Amino acid sequence: MSSSLISRSGSRLRSLMAFATVALLTASPAFAASNAGKYQAVLGDCEGCHGKNLAGGVALETPFGKLVTPNITPDRETGIGTYSLEDFRKAMTQGVGPGGKLLYPAMPYPYYARMRDGDIAVLWSYIRSVKPVKQAQNVNQLRFPFNIRFAMHGWNLLYFQPTALAPDSAKSAVWNRGRYLVEGAAHCGACHAPKNFLGADKPVLTGGLLQGWYAPDLTGNKVSGIGNWSGDDIVDYLKTGRNAHSIASGPMADVVENSTMNMAGGDLVAIATYLADLPPSGGPGGGVDRRDMQLQAGARVYRMNCAACHGLDGKGSAIFPPLAGNANVTQALADTAARMVVAGSKAVATPAAPTGPAMPSFAWKLDDAQVANVLTYIRNNWGNSAPAVEAAVVERVRAEK
Ligand code: HEC
Ligand code: HEC
Ligand code: HEC
Repeated sequence: MSSSLISRSGSRLRSLMAFATVALLTASPAFAASNAGKYQAVLGDCEGCHGKNLAGGVALETPFGKLVTPNITPDRETGIGTYSLEDFRKAMTQGVGPGGKLLYPAMPYPYYARMRDGDIAVLWSYIRSVKPVKQAQNVNQLRFPFNIRFAMHGWNLLYFQPTALAPDSAKSAVWNRGRYLVEGAAHCGACHAPKNFLGADKPVLTGGLLQGWYAPDLTGNKVSGIGNWSGDDIVDYLKTGRNAHSIASGPMADVVENSTMNMAGGDLVAIATYLADLPPSGGPGGGVDRRDMQLQAGARVYRMNCAACHGLDGKGSAIFPPLAGNANVTQALADTAARMVVAGSKAVATPAAPTGPAMPSFAWKLDDAQVANVLTYIRNNWGNSAPAVEAAVVERVRAEK
């Protein structure tokens, strides 16, 4: 199982680092460390899973059952108040808790394993400084046999090689910082990487299925990936939750609100530099002929239900996203698009872009076949091209929403 199977980053950089150094020299060492550690918690999105006060209790649905996140405040009884720095380092980088307890990789330790010692140490100072909350959590609610922690032993042997990322000297310092964030603390692959049958993340960002969502291809593919996005487009999306191509919703809206929105500008530029350099994936596969019956039926559903907002030309408007050239529409698996139609969605609102427009749910109006038809149409019109959608996919998403 993996963290990803859950429903739910030049010169600017150098000046930021100089600023951090000055801050470290002027403030008291403990305070400075805890502040720098708070930033590590932003990069790693600890709040996204352990809650705003880090007391846990957030339920994560996985294909193997439910996990509820533990309390990681310094409370000695119900939190991690008795942890040493070494215990913390082992949990973060090896997935092993005190007493040899093997953690499930729903805790993204396969990514945190790449964090540097210094970053883990300041994060620990921050975790020590938050308010202790007394609140026990019943973490392991997985189904047999996944509820047996020892099973993780085999999983770790098979899939987990804790390795630090050696800097790539052929690439710039900014690119290397971006890779450190994307492949490390920010654990983007936890959602955007495809899984093998045991739920381990493959080391590519070509897209991954969550519960009822599909985290899209982040490579340079111009149809399914972000090959048409500029570096600024990527930064805007991570800072504000939107840009001219796309709007963040669902689990990505949470990632923006808890993590990327609060990242330093230099780190966002670094992430964008790294992503923009990813080689294009193979893409979603073959499209559907314009004369296809399913596509024709879908065109009628589109005119009646969708064109008012997204436009007959699929270009959207200032507040409604375009569907033409929209990578969320043309992923290999249509789960995110299907979810939009059957569950509706409220787009992310950030201080930079405060109004989040809403997409209404059509669950009451369109059956699975009609939704599959309209999705097949939007995946194969206005220059889009992707495989047809089966009603069974819509049925699955309806059940998971
Ligand atoms: C994607 C969700 C997710 C994110 C993000 C996440 N955690 Fe966790 N974490 C979990 C889950 C689930 C567990 C419980 C794993 C288990 O018990 O097998 C856990 C367990 C832990 C533990 C072990 C606690 C114990 O009971 O001994 C520590 C320490 C921890 N997390 C710290 C962190 C820190 C620090 C961050 C941010 C850098 C973080 N986590 C981010 C899901 C997450
Ligand atoms: C918890 C799962 C999760 C994590 C972690 C996550 N994403 Fe996403 N991401 C998604 C989902 C789901 C979508 C599609 C939803 C949408 O576009 O509304 C998405 C969409 C995106 C998009 C828009 C792509 C497009 O074509 O529209 C970008 C860019 C992106 N993510 C980048 C990142 C980066 C960079 C990170 C790491 C800092 C990251 N994501 C971490 C789940 C996640
Ligand atoms: C009342 C206006 C409205 C109507 C009608 C409407 N939509 Fe939407 N749609 C939106 C808004 C607003 C969003 C952005 C919401 C978000 O991303 O959370 C959206 C988002 C989407 C997305 C996801 C785009 C992305 O980048 O993530 C898809 C796919 C979509 N709509 C398809 C459809 C289809 C198919 C129909 C007809 C069955 C339809 N919409 C009808 C307003 C509308």
